[in-house]
Amino acid sequence: MNATAHHVAAEAERLLRSLMHVDCDPRGKTWNYEACLAIAPLTLEINELKKDRGAVILAHSYLEPEIIYGVADFRGDSYFLSLKARELRAPVILFAGVVFMAETAKILSPAATVIVPDRDSGCSLADALTGDQLRQLKSLYPDATVVCYINSTAEVKAASDVCVTSGNVYAIVEKLPARRILFVPDRLMGDNLRTEMKRRGVDKEIITADGTCMVHDQFTPTDITAARQRYPGLLVVAHPECPPAVAAAADFVGSTGAMMKYVKTTGAPYYLMLTECGLVGRLQVESPEKAFVGGCRLCPYMKLNSLEKIRDALKSPRPDQIITLPEDVRQRAAHCLEQMFALSPAD
Ligand code: 13P
Ligand code: SF4
Repeated sequence: MNATAHHVAAEAERLLRSLMHVDCDPRGKTWNYEACLAIAPLTLEINELKKDRGAVILAHSYLEPEIIYGVADFRGDSYFLSLKARELRAPVILFAGVVFMAETAKILSPAATVIVPDRDSGCSLADALTGDQLRQLKSLYPDATVVCYINSTAEVKAASDVCVTSGNVYAIVEKLPARRILFVPDRLMGDNLRTEMKRRGVDKEIITADGTCMVHDQFTPTDITAARQRYPGLLVVAHPECPPAVAAAADFVGSTGAMMKYVKTTGAPYYLMLTECGLVGRLQVESPEKAFVGGCRLCPYMKLNSLEKIRDALKSPRPDQIITLPEDVRQRAAHCLEQMFALSPAD
């Protein structure tokens, strides 16, 4: 595409209005006009390609800000993005996130061509349990209702009764009639679920698998005590993939969407966000008046996405960038996801 100098400058201005607020870029980038000008031809090209292909870009909030604010049509957490994938009638969905999210989009929107920029964008949770391993576990607990976290493969979803996300896990498990729940693959979220059911006075036996998120399992209660000492009035906001001792010491625990909402609707002098650093970038753009403290933890899988890979995948996707699923697996996985939507409709 031959973008004129005028178009490029206007695009750089558009990017700058959002990106100028991000000062936690893990690559050490300073988002000034020159940095925006350098990527403007690429974001213009991607936005043109989207029109040509009838493509929609869904981006998880952990992604780099130039993807979220430069080319994404929808940005958010796993629940929101799966809902979008389900209701969109786009012929092409490019999922800027990780592979299990793109698989979920394909399960829910089978007629669409679903593309991932990088096939290696896995997830330590999804990779922790295969369909065969789940079938083995199920044989040990034949009376349990099998609840899978959305961070799981299509095979695992296909072998589960109901799917949940970080935003609806407690509400859905509370509603299930079974007392015995086999919760996979996140052991730490399963531990948090057990604590929350007890707190709500709900009698459930929660059996877990052994996966963890390689980003969230690194946070410790010491991170919280140290930050509270240093920053009076601090609010600590954690994701339910964090260890139980961290969740217990936080002021709020919820999905990345709920974490954003909590920050936007509270007025603390400082926030410590116990999640992947991309979410802080989003909040710096959308709540520039808030102050965030603490270091940056990165998900190496989410960070495999880039504008260049998105452009190339939209232009001419390689076979490994196109999500395909056996139809029987897709249908069973769709049933598991539809159970979630029935038990936890969008507000
Ligand atoms: P959310 O659905 O809360 O965005 O979580 C997705 C995820 O991968 C967290 O690590
Ligand atoms: Fe998976 Fe953790 Fe990365 Fe989320 S942050 S995609 S759970 S590895």
